[in-house]
Amino acid sequence: MSEVKKELLYTGKAKDVYKTDKDDEVIIKFRDDITALDGGRRDTLSKKGAYNALISAKLFEVLEEHGISTQYIKLEEPDEMRTQALEMIPLEVICRNIATGSLLRKYPFHKNQELNPPIIQFDYKNDVYHDPMLNDDIITALEITTQKQLDQIREITYVINKVLSRYLKERNLILVDFKIEFGLDKDGNIVLGDEISPDTTRLWDSKTLDNFDKDIFRKGEEGVVEAYKKVVELVLTDEEIEKWNVDKL
Ligand code: C5P
Repeated sequence: MSEVKKELLYTGKAKDVYKTDKDDEVIIKFRDDITALDGGRRDTLSKKGAYNALISAKLFEVLEEHGISTQYIKLEEPDEMRTQALEMIPLEVICRNIATGSLLRKYPFHKNQELNPPIIQFDYKNDVYHDPMLNDDIITALEITTQKQLDQIREITYVINKVLSRYLKERNLILVDFKIEFGLDKDGNIVLGDEISPDTTRLWDSKTLDNFDKDIFRKGEEGVVEAYKKVVELVLTDEEIEKWNVDKL
C-alpha cells in the first residue's frame, strides 16, 4: 500500500476496502483471489488483481467521458483504486446482449441467441440467500431502492451497455454480458461503483468467440491470467500500458 497502512473497512471475495485520510474517499484494493460457482471453486492468481483494477479504471474513465457518474477517482497503484465512498445498494445489476451462462440453464433461450433489446436482471447481493433474482415489486417491498431509483438504474445500465459495447467492439471484443453495482453518494445520487473487469463481464473475441473472462476459470481451464492480460492490452492505450509497466507487474 502506497501510504501508511490504512484501516480495513470491508473485505469481499476479491477486493478489500480501506479508509483514507478523507471521510468521503476509500481505497479499493483488488486482490489476486478468484472464486466461482458460489464459492465452490477458489484460487489465487498472481497479477489478476492488478489487471482487473487497470481494466476497471479504464472502463470507468470511458464511462465518465460519456456522462456516467462513477465512484472512480484515480489509480494509486496498479491494484489500488481511490474512489468516492458510496453507500452500496445490494443489487447485482446484470445486463445481457447474448444468451449464455445461467440464462441458458434457467430458460429455453437458444445458445448465443442475440438479445435485442438487451435483458436487464436484478439479483439480490446476499450470500445467505445465494443471490436470488428479484423483480421490481420485491425490490421496493424490501426497500432496497424506490421505484424511481430502480428506473434510473435501469436507464443508466442501458447507457453503460451501449457505451462499453461500442468501445470494446472497436477493440475486437464482444460485450456478451456484465454485472454492475451502484451506490448512493452523500447527496443521494445514484453512482456506478465496484468494478467492471473480466471477473464481472463476459468478453468474447469478435472473430473466434473465445472467452477472455472468468468463464475460463469457471470451466476449470488454464490461461485465465493470460486472457485478462490480453484484455488489458486491448483496452488500455500504449502509453497507459507503459505508465503502469504492465509487462513487469
Ligand atoms: O452466471 P450468469 O450468466 O448469470 O452471469 C451473468 C454475468 O454477470 C456474467 O458476466 C458474470 O460474470 C456476471 N456475474 C457476476 N457476479 C455474480 C453473478 C454474475 O459478476 N455474482
